[in-house]
Order: sequence, then C-alpha cells, then structure tokens
Amino acid sequence: MIFDVNFFRSQFPILSEKIYGKQLVYLDNGATTQKPHSVLEKIMDVYERYNSNVHRGVHHLSNITTDLHENARKRVAEHINAISDREVVFTRGTTESINLMAYSFGETYCHEGDEIIVSAMEHHANLVPWQLLCERKKMKLRIAPIDANGCLILPELYKLFNERTKLLSITHVSNVTGIVNPIEEIVNEAHAHHVPVLIDAAQSMPHMIVDVQAIDCDFMAFSGHKMYGPNGIGVLYGRRRFLDEMVPYQSGGAMIDKVTLEKTTFLPAPLRFEAGTPDYVGAIGLAAAIDYIDNIGKESIRDHEKHLTEYALEGLRSIDGVRIIGESENRSSVVSFLVGDAHPYDTGMILDKMGIAVRTGHHCAQPLMTHFGITGTVRASFAIYNTTSDVDALIDGVKRVKTMLCK
Ligand code: ALA
Repeated sequence: MIFDVNFFRSQFPILSEKIYGKQLVYLDNGATTQKPHSVLEKIMDVYERYNSNVHRGVHHLSNITTDLHENARKRVAEHINAISDREVVFTRGTTESINLMAYSFGETYCHEGDEIIVSAMEHHANLVPWQLLCERKKMKLRIAPIDANGCLILPELYKLFNERTKLLSITHVSNVTGIVNPIEEIVNEAHAHHVPVLIDAAQSMPHMIVDVQAIDCDFMAFSGHKMYGPNGIGVLYGRRRFLDEMVPYQSGGAMIDKVTLEKTTFLPAPLRFEAGTPDYVGAIGLAAAIDYIDNIGKESIRDHEKHLTEYALEGLRSIDGVRIIGESENRSSVVSFLVGDAHPYDTGMILDKMGIAVRTGHHCAQPLMTHFGITGTVRASFAIYNTTSDVDALIDGVKRVKTMLCK
C-alpha cells in the first residue's frame, strides 16, 4: 500500500474536529490513539447485528459472536507470531495484564526471599504491582539502573541475575523517552540465567514488528487502545507451559471446569484467566485494528513515524533553551522535552489553546523523573496520521511558549 498520510487522516473522523476553532493537532498517541472508521464500524456492526454473550449459548447469535471473539484471539496470535492462540489471554489492558502476572505468576512460583527485576525506566504499571507482590511475599525488588541519557546500563542489569531471580519484567520502549531497549539481547541473557522475561510492549506494539518467537520472551503485555483499537481491551501473551500452571487471577463464570459446593477445578489457559463476560466487542474491535495496521504494514508505519520523530527532534533542538529528555540512537516515536524553565503544565496549556494536544506531567514514571531531576516533561508522540505540518505547528507553538514564559 502507498503511504498516503492524507488518505489515512480521512479515515479518522476525530481529526476533522476543531479545538477552540483551530484544527486539532493530536500528538498524544502514547496515551491513546484515535480510531479509524473500520474499527468504529466493526464495533457498531457487532452491537447492531450480532450482540450476544460468548461461550454460553447454543443460539445462532451467540455462536456468531463466539466465533468472532475466538477469531480475534487467533488474529492477535498471528500478529505477534505466537505459536498458538491459547497463549493469548484477553485482559483490560497492559496494566491488568501485569497485575495478572504479579498475582498469578507470583502465587505460583514466588516465595519469601525470591527476587524480581524491573528497570528504573518503568511505567508505574510495571513497578507498583511488583512492589506489592514483594511486600506480600517478603521478596526483593531489584532495579536495573539507567544512565544520564535514560538508557539501561546493561552490564549492571546482568549483574542482578542470581539463583533467587524469578522474573525480569521490563519495558520494550519507554513511554517517556521513547528509548527502545535491546530486548532480544536482554531476553537471551536472562534465559542464560534461567530467568523468564515479561515484556511491557504497550509502547512498541503500535509502532514496530513485535514477534514473540523472535524475541523469545515468556510473557508480553499490551493494550488495544494505543494501537487504533477500542479502550478496555488488552492482551497478556504467555508461554503455555507457564499459563497452564499459573493459578487463576479472578474467578467466577466462564473459567471453570467443574464446580461443586466444596471445590472447583479450572479450564486450561487462556480461559482460566478470563472470568466473567469478556469484552468480546473490544476483542473484535482489536482484531479490526490489527487488520488496519497490517494492511498498512508495520515497516511503513515505523518509517513514517521515524521521519516525523527526527523532524521533530531537529526542530526542537533548533530552539534555544529547549531540552530533550532522554537520548538514544534507537528510539520510537516519542519525544519528551522541556522549554527553558517553563513548567510542563504551562507549556501544555498554551499548546492546547493552539489546538495542539500533548501530554504533560510525570507520565506515570515518577522514578524516571527523579532520575532526571525534574518533576515532569512535555511529551509529543506520533502515529500514522500525523504529518510534518503537525510537527511544524508544535515547533511554532513551542517558540510561542518560549516567548511567553521564558526570560
Ligand atoms: N501509559 C500512557 C502514557 O504513557 C497512558 O501516556
């Protein structure tokens, strides 16, 4: 497919919205992406034509919805190159996937004195659940350090592995700096120490090819809403040998094998982790989003976003007093920055008045902010529908902020 950004833009109704009478410039894709017609129509289609609970009925509509739901699971498995769709657990999003891991993996494999490794660049979603597990089980949370640029110090990470390490849980791409971790190398080293690895792929899955077999990770978490899909649906990928052993996370209907008043046995994965009515509309919408992405091709998406990111970095660096937070050769389509001594919220509010949506604050990564000695950043993050004109608007806006707020 030819990469025609204006054609892509026309598929996202929200991009025609005016903000304070100005054309919306949406640069908050790291928080959530907008949704194309094909995804919105698929959601409408399910509610208008098929809506019925899954895995429960013998009636026609229930069979159709169940097939669509299970085909969505297959579609996810294919997209991440899982060996089987039974390795795909539907969750509410990355946060729930990691909480599921902290509970089910923690209860199954972890004991007092054991250790979990995370890094200093993690989103709170990949830090707090592990802190709680460690408190609950009297375990130790080890933190892999990062350097002044925000990059992992790999030799220091590798020194943390020992016979008590139960899991390394690490992000693929930082949601603050966009730095891409050398995830294959890290997994390889962890496996040399017999340590399984969970990858937080929330910020990589929408932007690059993420192949669980090539990476050889044991678990992976990501969200639908950051990849043009609906809100409230996400995935935990896991190797079957772990998932089938792990105790359930939540319990109730749909995840049981046999129930008596005294005792319950559970279905194998993935259903043992999907108690209650699942978000089948979300899953079907996510499959439509994957179709949308694959139709364009992730290489094309990566090329387009790389170009925008380099263009934005060049523009921002050309403004005296603008500081880029986090530097690496290998980065995704996220740029964090500060304008002189202006508070990020003030910068964000002025940009907002110009119709430019960026995220400001600590980005749910307070330890990373502490590392950089700041309280927050302004973050621009790009998607397939962004243009160099969007970046020009951002650069003009930042120049205006500088004139208004900086000495
Ligand atoms: N985790 C999302 C972000 O980084 C919300 O903005």
